[in-house]
Amino acid sequence: MRFPLPSWMTASYLSLSSGSSKSSTDTGSSIAEDLKMSSKAHISEPVVTSTDESAIEIEKVETVPGISTEKNGISDGMKWWQEAVVYQIYPRSFQDSNGDGVGDLNGIIDRLDYLNDGTPNSLGVDAIWLSPIYPSPMFDFGYDISDYTDIDPVFGNLQDFRRLLDEAHRRNIKIIMDLVINHTSHLHPWFKESRSSKDNPKRDWYIWKDPRYDLRGHRQPPNNWLGMFGGKGWKWDEHTQQYYFHSFLAEQPDLNWRNPEVKEAVFQMVKGWLDMGVDGFRLDVINYIFKDDQWRNNPVQYFKPARPYDRQRHVYDRDRQPDLSGMLSDLRKLLESYDGDRMSVGEIQVEDHTKVKHVASCVGGKDQLHMAFNFAYFFTAWDAKVFRKRIHEWDSACQKQEPMGGWPTYTLSNHDYERHISRYTPLVGGSSSKEAVAQARAKLAALMLLTLRGTPFLYYGEEIGMREEPVPRRHLKDPVGLRFWPFHPGRDGCRRPMAWNGEYSQGGGFTSAKGRHGHELEDDAGKEMEEDQEKAPPMEQPQEEKPWLPLSQNLKTVNVASQTDDPSSLLNFYKKCIWFRRQDEILRCGSQHIMMGQEDDVESPDGGKKRQRNKANETPKGVMAFVREYKSGKRLVLLNFSGKQVTVPLFQQGYFADAAGFQVLLSTQEDRPVAATESKERSSSSDSDPSILQGSSVTVNGNEGIVLRVWSKRRFNE
Ligand code: GLC
Ligand code: CA
Repeated sequence: MRFPLPSWMTASYLSLSSGSSKSSTDTGSSIAEDLKMSSKAHISEPVVTSTDESAIEIEKVETVPGISTEKNGISDGMKWWQEAVVYQIYPRSFQDSNGDGVGDLNGIIDRLDYLNDGTPNSLGVDAIWLSPIYPSPMFDFGYDISDYTDIDPVFGNLQDFRRLLDEAHRRNIKIIMDLVINHTSHLHPWFKESRSSKDNPKRDWYIWKDPRYDLRGHRQPPNNWLGMFGGKGWKWDEHTQQYYFHSFLAEQPDLNWRNPEVKEAVFQMVKGWLDMGVDGFRLDVINYIFKDDQWRNNPVQYFKPARPYDRQRHVYDRDRQPDLSGMLSDLRKLLESYDGDRMSVGEIQVEDHTKVKHVASCVGGKDQLHMAFNFAYFFTAWDAKVFRKRIHEWDSACQKQEPMGGWPTYTLSNHDYERHISRYTPLVGGSSSKEAVAQARAKLAALMLLTLRGTPFLYYGEEIGMREEPVPRRHLKDPVGLRFWPFHPGRDGCRRPMAWNGEYSQGGGFTSAKGRHGHELEDDAGKEMEEDQEKAPPMEQPQEEKPWLPLSQNLKTVNVASQTDDPSSLLNFYKKCIWFRRQDEILRCGSQHIMMGQEDDVESPDGGKKRQRNKANETPKGVMAFVREYKSGKRLVLLNFSGKQVTVPLFQQGYFADAAGFQVLLSTQEDRPVAATESKERSSSSDSDPSILQGSSVTVNGNEGIVLRVWSKRRFNE
C-alpha cells in the first residue's frame, strides 16, 4: 500500500560482493583488498600483469552477446525460477475477450504471443504471476476468495484455465497462481459454516473471541488490533455473540492457522493446482498467518504517521515464530514433492520496508520460501547511493540465510503501489523535457532490474511506461481508496487497463465494451469534488461503467501499438534487455559485486576505526556500478542516476586488475555504439569498432545506463 516513506535509515554496510564468490564476503579487510580477493576467487591461473593493450586479439574473445532467437537451457545448478523474468498480470486489467469491460483468461491467452512467442519481437518473459482469479465477491478484487478450487466466471472457467496453462507451457511460459491463505471471503462456505453457530465443526477454522467489557460495561473487542484497510480488526457477530478477526476488510476474515484442519484443507487445495500443472505460487501476506497465541495488545507509538494502523507496532498480529517458519517449511516440502521445481514467492509485509533482514529470513536454504518480495525499492528515492545501499543490504541478507543462501528478487511496481515511472519522475506530463527524463529513468530502472543478480518481477504496463493515474472519486473501485479518499487515492491508479493501442473508440485494444472511456475524464476534472459518493461495495457498481476502470488519459501516446514501431521506445528497450539477458549467462547466473561509491559512508565493522579507502577504485557520485561474473566472463554495469554526464574510471586495480578492455554491449541511449550482433564473425581491429572503449575511462550521459563486457588479459594471452 502506498503509505508514507519510512523516515529513518541506518548507514552501515560492509563488503559488497555476492554470489558464487564466497571469499569476498569477508568484512574485515580494506575495500581494495576485498576487491582483489573477490577477483582472485574466480581465477585459478596466475593473473597476468601485462598492460600492453596491443595484446588484445578481438577474434579470441568469448561469444559476443547480441540478440539471438536461441533459447538457452537452464544453466548448471540453476533452477528455472532463478533465471526467469516474471511478469505480473492483474487479470481484470490485461485483456477483455468478451466485451464486458473486465479482463479475463481468454484475453490473456490472446496476448501470450506478446509476452513470449520465442522471438525478440515479443517481450520474452518466462513466467506469469496472475493476481487472484478464483471466485470472489470482489470486495478486494479477488483477494477475498469464496472458492479456492474454481475460477470466477468474470475471468472464465476451469476449462479456460487449463487452456491457458497449455498455451503458456507450449510457449515455455510458466504460470504462477496467487495464493491468498491468510484469509478467505466472508462468503466462503468455510466461513459461512464457521459463523453459523459456536459449536459448528468449522467454528475454530477462523479466529473467534469473546468480547471484553470496559469499566462502564461497554462491549469492547478482545484487544487493540486494527484492520489494515481501516477500523478495528475485530467484527462483532450478533448471531453468535463473538468477534472475529480480520487483518484487512471485515469481508476478509482471517483463517485460524493454529487449527491443523485448516492447514490440511489448504494443502489439499494447493495439491489440486499442482496436479493440474501450475508452476508456483505467490503467497499473499504470508507472514500474517500466525498471530500471538495469547492475543496480546500491540504496542502503540503515538508519534508516528496519521493512519492509526501505522501507529501500532505489529508485533503480535503477525510474524509469530516458530509457527510461521514451520508452516513455510511444510509448504516447501509439499512443493518439492512434485517434479518440475514448483516454486513459491512470498509477500512479506513489514513495518519498515528498508529493514530487509526479516524478509530475507523467510527465504532460502532448502527449507523456507524459494523467494520473497522486497518492497524497499518502492520507497527508495532516485539516488545511486541509496539504491546501492538498499541493493547491497538485500543481497547480503539473502546470502546470509543458512544453510545455503536465499535467492533475491527485484521488483519496482505491483498492483498495490504507485507505479515506479511516476515515483521516479513525479509530475510528468507538463513539459517535454520532463517527459524525456521520465523515459530515460524508466529505461535505467529497467536495465537495473534486468541486470542485477536475482529474479526480476515486472508489472504489466511498466514496459510501456504506463503512469500512475489516480482515478476520480466517482470511478473509485479499490476499497482502500473508497475508505481513505482524498487522503489516500487508493490503488486503482496502478490498475488501469493495459494500453494496447491509442484508440479510445477501440477501448485502447483492451475491450470492445462501449461506455465510459478514459477520454471523457478529461472533461471531468474537478467534478469529483462535488460528488457525494456512497461507499457502495464494488459489486454494486453500475453496469454501464465499462471498462471496469477508465482507460489511461495518455492512451494516445503510451500504448503498445505505437511503441512497437518506434525503435527507441521503452517497450523495445525492455525487449532488448530481456532478450539480452536470456542469452547472457553472466547476467542470469553470475556472482555480483557492487562497487563502492565515493559518496558512500562506511562504518568499520569493528566499530569506529575508519576503513582504508582507495577512492580511485570507487564510482563517482551519482553512479551505481556493479560487476557480474560467471565462468571467467565479466560484465560491468554502470548506471548514472544523475542528470549530468559523469566520467567513470575504468578501474585498473582491484576487481579489474586483470582487465584488458571494455566493450559496450547495451545502453539505454540510442546513439551509444554497442557491439554488433554479428561481431562473433567479424575480424575488425579494436580501433575501428566504436563499441570498444579506448582509454581508461568512459563518459556516461545523464540518466544513462550501460552494460560493458570486461576482457581479461589472461584471455588475450592464452
Ligand atoms: C496483499 C495484496 C493486496 C490485498 C491484501 C489483502 O497485500 O497484494 O492487494 O489487498 O494482500 O489480501
Ligand atoms: Ca471479460
